[in-house]
Amino acid sequence: MCGIVGYIGEKQAYPILIKGLKRLEYRGYDSAGIAILNGELNTFKKIGKVSELEEYVKDKNINGNIGIAHTRWATHGEPNDINAHPHNSQSKNIAIIHNGIIENYSIIKDELIKRGYKFSSETDSEVLAYLIEDILKNVKNDLAEAVRIALNQVIGAYAIAVISKNEPDKLIVAKKGSPLVIGIGKGEFFIASDATPIVEYTKDVVYLNDFEFAVIKKNEELDIRTISNKRQTPYIQRLELELSQLEKGGYEHFMLKEIYEQPRSIRDCMRGRINAEEDFVILGGISDYEQKLINAKRIIIIACGTSWHAGLVGEYMLEDIARIPVEVEYASEFRYKNPIIYEDDIVIAISQSGETADTLEAIEIAKTRGATILGICNVVGSSIARATHAGSYTHAGPEIGVASTKAFTAQITILALLSLSLAQKKGTIKKSRFHQLLNELTNIPKLVEETLKTDDVILKIAKIFSNARNFLYLGRGYNFPVALEGALKLKEISYIHAEGYPAAEMKHGPIALIDQEMPTVVIATNRGTYEKVISNIQEIKARKGIIIAIVTKGDKAVKELADYVIEIPETEEMFVPLLATIPLQLLSYHIAVIRNCNVDQPRNLAKSVTVE
Ligand code: M6R
Repeated sequence: MCGIVGYIGEKQAYPILIKGLKRLEYRGYDSAGIAILNGELNTFKKIGKVSELEEYVKDKNINGNIGIAHTRWATHGEPNDINAHPHNSQSKNIAIIHNGIIENYSIIKDELIKRGYKFSSETDSEVLAYLIEDILKNVKNDLAEAVRIALNQVIGAYAIAVISKNEPDKLIVAKKGSPLVIGIGKGEFFIASDATPIVEYTKDVVYLNDFEFAVIKKNEELDIRTISNKRQTPYIQRLELELSQLEKGGYEHFMLKEIYEQPRSIRDCMRGRINAEEDFVILGGISDYEQKLINAKRIIIIACGTSWHAGLVGEYMLEDIARIPVEVEYASEFRYKNPIIYEDDIVIAISQSGETADTLEAIEIAKTRGATILGICNVVGSSIARATHAGSYTHAGPEIGVASTKAFTAQITILALLSLSLAQKKGTIKKSRFHQLLNELTNIPKLVEETLKTDDVILKIAKIFSNARNFLYLGRGYNFPVALEGALKLKEISYIHAEGYPAAEMKHGPIALIDQEMPTVVIATNRGTYEKVISNIQEIKARKGIIIAIVTKGDKAVKELADYVIEIPETEEMFVPLLATIPLQLLSYHIAVIRNCNVDQPRNLAKSVTVE
């Protein structure tokens, strides 16, 4: 889970690399480094954020037109200057950056140690640099060929970039499991883990496939081969990404910007997919699999973290109106539990980044057992988007804050569209009801705008509770996953312990925690199990607990009991998660800011979890 970036061309590499690292810092931010060729191979690395590397290299020789750079999220070896990338080979002639994990690194390392090599870091990546050098010395004195031979020996995942002092006219990249994109400029090339560092220079890109490597030289055509040495024709795609989407646009943090973008991102997610006049939903990306979906006896949703919470909302929706049994699985559990999968199962993988290692692996397992796999991803061209048979993009735009916000509501929007479409086609919903729901869904972006106006009230509540040590989040039915998501948001960015629970389960244990110190956030909107939730609130009040309630505008009963209320607009029960989530995102955000936490880059986390 790291970010890699590289450049080869006529320009100075350093400014491109450092800017690229800043764009990729969401992928990892415990150390960073850079290697530049200019007759010499100069490598500089520093623990900490990219800004610390920038400070460190101020008086160093950073001239050169070819370079590679890396921002790290530690897997093997603690974050420090030595374990930071790039890693040099023993002779210091080669530099490599790596995102992924070389699983058999210790076997290779032991072998190289026996041959007299001395390693300086604890990383798996350094082993690859040494292995390439060993092959260059003993097998084939050609960098591209040595990289290719080395990659045939490693087991694991990698996106790598390699440069060498002895072959200073080329940059070599390769991919398996971790993402790698090549930007094609005029006689120059950019490489990165995703397109964000590239978009300001060129919109023409090639996404490398697994087991492919490329030899990149300025002013020459891209030379792409498989690691079994079969030449490939580069498939050039045009990026739709805009530079403005990658900037904060006046907001203090990306997370806040992304929370406020939700009216637009939900609208973009629905764009072209709803025909309200003729009453139908079209999810073009999966239309070839429509009949399979209609016939499906079961849908299995696999995901992690916030995407898993969206999957739970999807379970309620699909079962409620399309009457299809749904199982929602943590991808990390699914992949190791010998799951029962039938050929007529539909597996839906949900992922913002499209790079989550556990979800990717779970897809592979489901595939080998013959299921149809659909994806709901935000990042276009991502590994999950390409590993699935078909899918729907969420079109939420780049999500840079590590805490997922607008991607979550966009994922729920797709699941709502899918549920409506299937319900209509299966005949499990009345025409008039379908029409009502579709109209309401179209209106959701406006209701989200209205919900965002609760921000001032939320800030006041955040100030009161920013020092709380624990929080409990409760909800029932559609609001149960919202409670889980609210708790996750608070934990990850404010480091306050929070638990999400189905409200009725509280009395089976967590009620023991309730006292005057612990705030309980209850999503108590006016549909479904409203009366039952009121009873749960009474149980908390009877134990002197503090209630922060998310209620429907105009509510009276909960207001009488709760200590603090946040009013959201009225909507259909199935769409409440799209509104109720927003105040919880804002509450976590404000608490984290008051506590002086790094909101966009919380400690120990990274945006895409590309390791197990
Ligand atoms: O990119 P994905 O949606 O597959 O990521 C899954 C989780 O890692 C992610 O949702 C994580 O829980 C977020 N930090 C939550 O805000």
